[in-house]
Amino acid sequence: MQHFISVKDAADINKLISRAIDCKQLPAAHRTLGAGKRIGMLFLNPSLRTRLSTQVAASNLGLETIVFNVDKEGWAMEFEEGAIMSGTTVEHVKDAAPILGNYFDILCIRAFPSLKNREDDYSEEVINSFIRYAGVPIVSLESATLHPLQSLTDLVTIREHWGLQQNRKPKVVLTWAPHIRALPQCVPNSFAQWINAWGETDFVITHPADYELDEQFTKGATITHDQQAALEGADFIYVKNWSTYRDYGRIYSNDPSWMLTPEKLKAAPGAKIMHCLPVRRNVELSDEVLDSPMSIVTQQASNRVWAAQAVLTEILSNG
Ligand code: CP
Repeated sequence: MQHFISVKDAADINKLISRAIDCKQLPAAHRTLGAGKRIGMLFLNPSLRTRLSTQVAASNLGLETIVFNVDKEGWAMEFEEGAIMSGTTVEHVKDAAPILGNYFDILCIRAFPSLKNREDDYSEEVINSFIRYAGVPIVSLESATLHPLQSLTDLVTIREHWGLQQNRKPKVVLTWAPHIRALPQCVPNSFAQWINAWGETDFVITHPADYELDEQFTKGATITHDQQAALEGADFIYVKNWSTYRDYGRIYSNDPSWMLTPEKLKAAPGAKIMHCLPVRRNVELSDEVLDSPMSIVTQQASNRVWAAQAVLTEILSNG
């Protein structure tokens, strides 16, 4: 593995899942793999899980980690080729990235979309600029359109619950949920991309009209606006809000009726409830559901360490 930006960087998804589960069972098995090496973690946006789980994973591999909150402490960075930098940006990525590539053996970047211009966001200018100019492996800690470490974690968590020996595929439902703010499409895009590439589930996406995601990620899934029908017999229900893709970055419906409730879950009594967190309680998901035995969100978030450790192990094993 050279970089970790999307599912395309996972040569064998099941092997990567197994590696993550191995890391969970024996966290210190490769304690010296990263000895003498250093990862830089650049945050252009806030984080709790991604930041700390990746630091723990790096520590388990003997890596030194340096975190830099670029958004709060760094120079405002310019990404546009040929930009006349007479505005607010101070340093071009083509100047900063090669320096960071000399400081670090692996560079991890978190950069959310602007949600203002779809073409700009979907060109993945930030993460691609670091790939172009840094000269070291780049790991996405969530980019403008994808969140691959989250998605690998999600598959690990499904595998832990479902196992390998069942005689049918699990039904996995990704359901839109209400939110008060316009959120990126990264998590649902990425989840759909990984689940489709994995091919080991019956995958259904349900959302209100006008909340269609980009087909490049959802192609292969069953898509319906009927949430209750979608939930019927589900084994895993992944709850997530996202803003509109076509009329980019808007909230049309903040319809509370899309919030998952115990009443709706009568259609899927054996379902496990997933969410990437952070979650707005009693907006996206009710307390009753989140605090019930059906919720596996804590296990899911805890598995972030093992997904990150599996990916860093793969990259370190390359060179
Ligand atoms: N799920 C996730 O990425 O959490 P953080 O935003 O806290 O990193």
